[in-house]
Amino acid sequence: MRSSTSITSTIALAGIVTAFTPVGFQPASTNNLTVAFGNTLATNGVNLPKAETQTAPTIGTSQPLFGSYTLMMVDPDIPPQIAGGATSELLHWLQPGLVSANTSTTIGGLKVYELINPTNVSAIATYISPSPPNKSPTTHRYTQLLLNTTGNGTALSTLSKAGATRSNFSAVDVVRNAGLNVLFGNYFNVSAATNTTGSGTGNGTSSGASSSGSGGKATGGASAVTTTRLTTVPGSTATAAAGAGSDGNSTGAAKSTAGVGAKGAGSGAILAGLGAMAAAVILL
Ligand SMILES: *[C@@H]1O[C@H](CO)[C@@H](O)[C@H](O)[C@H]1NC(C)=O
Ligand SMILES: *[C@@H]1O[C@H](CO)[C@@H](O)[C@H](O)[C@H]1NC(C)=O
Ligand SMILES: *[C@@H]1O[C@H](CO)[C@@H](O)[C@H](O)[C@H]1NC(C)=O
Ligand SMILES: *[C@@H]1O[C@H](CO)[C@@H](O)[C@H](O)[C@H]1NC(C)=O
Ligand SMILES: *[C@@H]1O[C@H](CO)[C@@H](O)[C@H](O)[C@H]1NC(C)=O
Ligand SMILES: *[C@@H]1O[C@H](CO)[C@@H](O)[C@H](O)[C@H]1NC(C)=O
Ligand SMILES: *[C@@H]1O[C@H](CO)[C@@H](O)[C@H](O)[C@H]1NC(C)=O
Ligand SMILES: *[C@@H]1O[C@H](CO)[C@@H](O)[C@H](O)[C@H]1NC(C)=O
Ligand SMILES: *[C@@H]1O[C@H](CO)[C@@H](O)[C@H](O)[C@H]1NC(C)=O
Ligand SMILES: *[C@@H]1O[C@H](CO)[C@@H](O)[C@H](O)[C@H]1NC(C)=O
Repeated sequence: MRSSTSITSTIALAGIVTAFTPVGFQPASTNNLTVAFGNTLATNGVNLPKAETQTAPTIGTSQPLFGSYTLMMVDPDIPPQIAGGATSELLHWLQPGLVSANTSTTIGGLKVYELINPTNVSAIATYISPSPPNKSPTTHRYTQLLLNTTGNGTALSTLSKAGATRSNFSAVDVVRNAGLNVLFGNYFNVSAATNTTGSGTGNGTSSGASSSGSGGKATGGASAVTTTRLTTVPGSTATAAAGAGSDGNSTGAAKSTAGVGAKGAGSGAILAGLGAMAAAVILL
């Protein structure tokens, strides 16, 4: 952050295009990616209720793109383990194999060409939904970056290795090490629930099917303050459970099923491992 705020303000006043990624975030992008949950746009840093962000968003661009793309989503606002320490980054989603749809759709009034996964390429890191804890910073900026990985096995291999570890992630280093540039960027905000007695939203049912993420359907019986986290593992059978909520003292009693299509092989969902459970409690 620091002085970057004033620098950006100055740039904005000078009429220069500003980034669609958060102020100070690297790698930055001055091209906007459309990100939406259902018909709700998740663009320009909009503050969204956590409940609205539980399944992977739709992403798209205003023009169709030639080639194959990878979506990276990170949260750069993971609270430090020790008060006063630096925030760190968590990888929330890394999905290769995305191609533009040939026809446009209208989302939130915008005409977009959705980036879809018609050949069911497995996620390197499946979508973990936002769940910021009641710990400063309580507003997290979930940032999406679109990378051009057309025919680039070398870059994809680098991304696969990096995506194996979600915590203490460094989007800027990973993108640079993969020899890639960010073509489009976006972010939306989700704030920690400071009120755990609030009324529940939704009825615990969510569809995991998204045009760009893992296919399938997740059915959770989780309460509003409980988060179900799924990690897909190609070839596994579909079993899942709810993770412990990070918003208070809720514990999940959800059961989920998911059928994530993977090229040539059945895939399923398993409960995110111990590391992810720890992340659910400590990091998100
Ligand atoms: C992206 O930018 C274009 C032009 O700058 C604008 O028309 C469009 O509404 C923007 N889309 C989003 C999702 O902000
Ligand atoms: C999103 O959160 C960031 C960090 O708190 C804040 O600077 C930004 O203004 C927020 N966006 C909106 C639309 O309020
Ligand atoms: C778009 O059209 C081209 C040409 O017909 C086709 O090769 C491609 O598979 C189509 N893409 C999608 C996502 O359907
Ligand atoms: C991708 O997954 C969907 C949903 O599971 C399935 O209908 C489709 O046939 C799969 N496509 C390929 C190419 O495997
Ligand atoms: C992505 O890379 C491919 C292969 O290099 C190229 O043909 C395509 O134009 C690139 N896409 C964009 C949007 O630059
Ligand atoms: C593929 O990625 C490598 C780095 O991993 C980069 O040097 C190269 O330029 C990329 N190739 C294409 C065609 O984009
Ligand atoms: C996080 O990664 C940086 C290098 O990118 C390293 O210096 C630091 O020690 C790591 N922190 C933790 C807690 O692993
Ligand atoms: C918590 O949420 C409940 C139900 O929505 C509301 O009645 C109450 O005023 C809220 N409390 C605080 C402190 O916001
Ligand atoms: C509850 O879940 C069902 C699907 O099982 C869905 O059709 C319905 O719209 C949901 N209701 C609410 C209020 O979310
Ligand atoms: C935590 O759970 C206990 C037992 O269910 C309940 O009495 C207490 O009010 C809960 N606390 C909060 C902050 O939700």
